[in-house]
Amino acid sequence: MKPIKIAIDGPAGAGKSTIAKQIADKLDIIYLDTGAMYRAIALKCLQNNIDLEDTEAILRLLNNTQIDVEFQNNIQSVILDGIDISDEIRTTEVSNIASYIAKIPDVRKKLASMQRKIGRDKSIIMDGRDIGTYVLPNADIKIFLTASLEERAKRRWLEYRSKGECKDLDFVKREIEQRDRSDSTRKFAPLKKADDAIVIDTTDKSIEQVVDTIMQIINSRISTS
Ligand code: DC
Repeated sequence: MKPIKIAIDGPAGAGKSTIAKQIADKLDIIYLDTGAMYRAIALKCLQNNIDLEDTEAILRLLNNTQIDVEFQNNIQSVILDGIDISDEIRTTEVSNIASYIAKIPDVRKKLASMQRKIGRDKSIIMDGRDIGTYVLPNADIKIFLTASLEERAKRRWLEYRSKGECKDLDFVKREIEQRDRSDSTRKFAPLKKADDAIVIDTTDKSIEQVVDTIMQIINSRISTS
């Protein structure tokens, strides 16, 4: 069977990674979390005290960085210069820096090229902001997941709380709003729905309902292709 390419895009907190992971499990295909690659570079900038206004310094750092993505039982690990940093990249500070450096076209070009290479000749589901528009413009299925700002903030707030971090809900809402603005207003490959993407609003839906809806879309495409 021809490899299937599935693109899932959407703003922070829309449920992309949770949903993409479950679809990957059901189809027994690889799930690539592209945000983790931006986060890996962000972590290295942080570790090296890089001035984020200094694009040249970020690009120099990028050219001296080895990012490897490994999969075991379809679970992704991100290796930065030989060290597994999959857990370390999950902080708010790293995600804010990731969104900031993601504006730099050369950073995006390099990571997009790695992402295409990882997906070459195999079935894959990728999530991010620009998968359907830029990384995999010919993907077989493109989904754009959204949810209201309130709902996305609530999900992030619950996520923080489960990790023992107590934050004010309004603060989390502003944080998400700021990230959406940064991701959707950048000039090169911004967060944007592809013209041929199917929009799913997850605000009042359970994870199972969203996964079922996407599986129905996938099955109907497979049976008609
Ligand atoms: O999906 P995430 O929260 O892990 O992504 C972190 C940041 O990385 C996000 O705010 C923007 C950037 N990103 C991007 O610009 N393009 C992608 N394909 C994935 C992430």
